Amino acid sequence: MRYDDVSDELDEILVTEEQMLARLAELAREVERDYDGHDLLLVGVLKGAVMVMSDLSRALTRPVRMDWMAVSSYGHGTTSSGVVRILKDLDTDIAGKNVLLVEDIIDTGLTLSWLRDNLLSRGALTVKILAALQKPDALKVDIVADYLGFDIPNKFVVGYGLDYAENYRHLRDVAVLSPRMYADSE
Ligand code: IMP
Repeated sequence: MRYDDVSDELDEILVTEEQMLARLAELAREVERDYDGHDLLLVGVLKGAVMVMSDLSRALTRPVRMDWMAVSSYGHGTTSSGVVRILKDLDTDIAGKNVLLVEDIIDTGLTLSWLRDNLLSRGALTVKILAALQKPDALKVDIVADYLGFDIPNKFVVGYGLDYAENYRHLRDVAVLSPRMYADSE
């Protein structure tokens, strides 16, 4: 494993950086095709989507704009609360715009379902969803990513922007966090 210092805190690697970049390149081609001739605003959800936004936007060969929101739905635990709070709002007026929401992971789907409704209520013309990862077995609401990187098992993962208590975001691959690391805080 390439993370000597934290390798005993992680279980298996689910998606390598190389696999993620290859998949995002494919998704970028789909996005280009679907939005051909239309403006496109990428809205990233801080902080987890920083890596996927960065890699997706650079895989695109068309002009895009980017904006960011920060929401909180988790606190420091590993299960979703379902309560969404806006910590940082958009800088852009999205009325009449085509928005592609860029997310790290769809777990219960509660965050994205809330965000999509929120953006539509501000008059966005279209709101689609791109998620790097999805845990299909954890889904609690009816939400489908228009563009999906990988389905993964219902395990708590870190890396590629995903954290546990703000740690591990910088890891290049997506790895399962050893349950030992959070067993005491649940
Ligand atoms: P949802 O509302 O349950 O779909 O959760 C969405 C947010 O929870 C994601 O954007 C992540 O920030 C966080 N999250 C969900 N699953 C994981 C995970 O396995 N590792 C790290 N963060 C996660």
